[in-house]
Amino acid sequence: MEKLLIIGANGFLGRKLLYRFHDKFDVYGADLITTGIPEVYHPSYIDISKKNVVNDLINIIKPNLTILTAAMTNVDACEDFSEKAKKINSDGPLFVAQALKDIGGRLIHISTDFIFDGEQGDYTEKDIPKPISVYGKTKLEGENNILKQKIPVVICRTSVLFGWPEADQRHNFFSWAYENLSKKKELKIISGQITTPTLVNDLVEFLYQISGFTRSEIYHTCGTEAISRYNFILKLIRTFNFDQNLLKEIDFLPQKAKRPNNSSLNTAKIQQIGNWKFKNINKSFQYLKSQNKNSK
Ligand SMILES: NC(=O)c1ccc[n+]([C@@H]2O[C@H](COP(=O)([O-])OP(=O)(O)OC[C@H]3O[C@@H](n4cnc5c(N)ncnc54)[C@H](OP(=O)(O)O)[C@@H]3O)[C@@H](O)[C@H]2O)c1
Repeated sequence: MEKLLIIGANGFLGRKLLYRFHDKFDVYGADLITTGIPEVYHPSYIDISKKNVVNDLINIIKPNLTILTAAMTNVDACEDFSEKAKKINSDGPLFVAQALKDIGGRLIHISTDFIFDGEQGDYTEKDIPKPISVYGKTKLEGENNILKQKIPVVICRTSVLFGWPEADQRHNFFSWAYENLSKKKELKIISGQITTPTLVNDLVEFLYQISGFTRSEIYHTCGTEAISRYNFILKLIRTFNFDQNLLKEIDFLPQKAKRPNNSSLNTAKIQQIGNWKFKNINKSFQYLKSQNKNSK
């Protein structure tokens, strides 16, 4: 059986990946904090910003495939701590790719729609990235650092991941809104910021399907529907029968980092791989509604 190393295994996407791949791989989970990684997945400490730590772990495990989800994902904190963001989002992927080159391992790297400036929207894999935030810039550097190593890599750019987090995990946009609406708290949601939100479970399934790929590709792996933050919450309210009066539309939100106006991604390329389709928002919400809130 091949070995799979998931780096960032304690995070939102990483934890979901752990539970999906065990029939195909011997799964290893690594993160800065390993408390949420079950023993069966060989929890290991890793700090991707430290070259020697990355080298040591990859040389001990010798994974056939590595999925790199670890990143500094707080977009506003990246503005305040830009050196740290560079070390994690830019240098980290470089160190992982260099270590994998030495042992001949392949990589799936998770990137973001925030590498685009958001002036155009519906971005294809051929469009030229132009980040407007430290997060976007450092994530783009991470992609480029990996590509320079010429290892087999699939770069998957995704957008606003949503779904049920586990009890000990941070909220995502969906679960944060769901929680507040359940408590009948008013939500002020910005009318703009169009993205292609992605049901985390769909991304996990896509990654499972491409886990055998040995060729290098860049894919836009996200939901099929471009939608504003406000309309996303409106659909959530309608699906889960919350009180629509709790939703207030605002046109400005003070945020440290600039956000793209429309960073929606075009998914035509991934739709050519088999019969694959990410769900639209309504179908995603129906899926989440039918799932147990605490299910994995
Ligand atoms: N979530 C989204 O909406 C979204 C959208 C587009 C792209 N993405 C990309 O998708 C990937 C997964 O996102 P996610 O939502 O699962 O993120 P997440 O929940 O923040 O998970 C990332 C994990 O990486 C860990 N980490 C941070 N710095 C590290 C380091 N130096 N070494 C090792 N691990 C480190 C984090 O630990 P701490 O929590 O302790 O920092 C966390 O457990 C990321 O690469 C992100 O850029 C996410």
